[in-house]
Amino acid sequence: MLAGKRILLIIGGGIAAYKVLELIRLCRKAGAAVTPVMTPAAKEFVTPLSVAALAGETVHEALFDLTSEAEMGHIQLSRVSDLVVVAPATANLMARMAHGAADDLATTLLLATDTPVLIAPAMNVRMWEHPATQRNLAILKADGVAVAGPDEGDMACGEYGPGRMAEPGAILAAITAHLGPKPLSGKTVLVTSGPTHEPIDPVRYIANRSSGAQGTAIAAALAALGARVRFVTGPGEVPPPEGVEVIRVETAREMLDAVEAALPADAAVFAAAVADWRVANASGSKMKKDGTGRAPALDFAENPDILRSISQRKTGRPCLVVGFAAETDDVVAHATAKRERKGCDWILANDVSPATGIMGGSENAVTLITGNGAETWPRMGKTEVARRLAQRIADRLTD
Ligand code: CTP
Repeated sequence: MLAGKRILLIIGGGIAAYKVLELIRLCRKAGAAVTPVMTPAAKEFVTPLSVAALAGETVHEALFDLTSEAEMGHIQLSRVSDLVVVAPATANLMARMAHGAADDLATTLLLATDTPVLIAPAMNVRMWEHPATQRNLAILKADGVAVAGPDEGDMACGEYGPGRMAEPGAILAAITAHLGPKPLSGKTVLVTSGPTHEPIDPVRYIANRSSGAQGTAIAAALAALGARVRFVTGPGEVPPPEGVEVIRVETAREMLDAVEAALPADAAVFAAAVADWRVANASGSKMKKDGTGRAPALDFAENPDILRSISQRKTGRPCLVVGFAAETDDVVAHATAKRERKGCDWILANDVSPATGIMGGSENAVTLITGNGAETWPRMGKTEVARRLAQRIADRLTD
């Protein structure tokens, strides 16, 4: 996947540096060459010997190293790679990058480079959330630096929250997004995601437990393969991915309008958990208790079925329409019938019964149902499901 590509890997001084050994292994397995650079602090966490052994290359450490300067000057070193990866990007390294410091080899290379830069931040949760770090992050993003992670979870320091370095596999996925093949370039793909909110009155609504994680991951995976992605999203918890066109909606009817306005598209993936019903007698003002103890009666009306209406369009139908089927029993049978009923090409069926922990969780177990039958995928992370689906879509659109 990364054959012929060269990564300049700058290793910062944080406990997460140990995970970089695995990252080097993964990058090399994917075919990339890795040129390692370590800050002085990084050497407190991993040894240059381990890094050099895994990278199969000398570790560059010092700015004023006459032997290395004679072999390859630091300016040249900063330019021979296809991508510069900084992992772990500590709070201090991010601050120095944001302000253009050049006081060691790592920051000098970062200032001198003309190749894209990807950082994988890693630090204590308070340090990550500190306004100074967030300011530095905003500066780096505005400078065009790509960011992988950080993840939320237990930290080496005993605290919990965002700040943990992204897993090596996720950093590799971000690297591949920059350097890998782009089979979907020139193609437009529409993705719906998240729940819809159906108002009861101006302050209350009916919703569902969808976080938007799967739709967001699909949009990111399609964009990574070069697609132009139009991302129509309800109010999910997970923020939309970078590099896609975001169209925010609240209700199912708004989602249908946004989807129609976003056509034409080569493919469409309907990952949103659209509310099947809306409150027909939604009140324009806040509903009040009337003092009798009687609860108000809500009347429901059926929402438009977006997947069905796009699948059955006579004109302007995307070549490939993919739906999801959230089921709690007889998953494959129900999803196969749903594919027929709605008229889409593929359905990704998933079991959302509470015991699976899938709705709102980080994993998914899906069965892909096409005109040729059902194919069950092993339980895997939602990012991996997205990557597989995006690759299948690319194979189909470039047939
Ligand atoms: N969907 C849609 N518009 C709706 C309802 C669902 O576009 N009003 C899409 C979803 O995005 C998903 C697929 O249809 O891709 C199936 O959603 P699901 O909730 O599983 O099915 P339902 O249509 O609700 O069918 P049922 O009530 O039989 O489960």
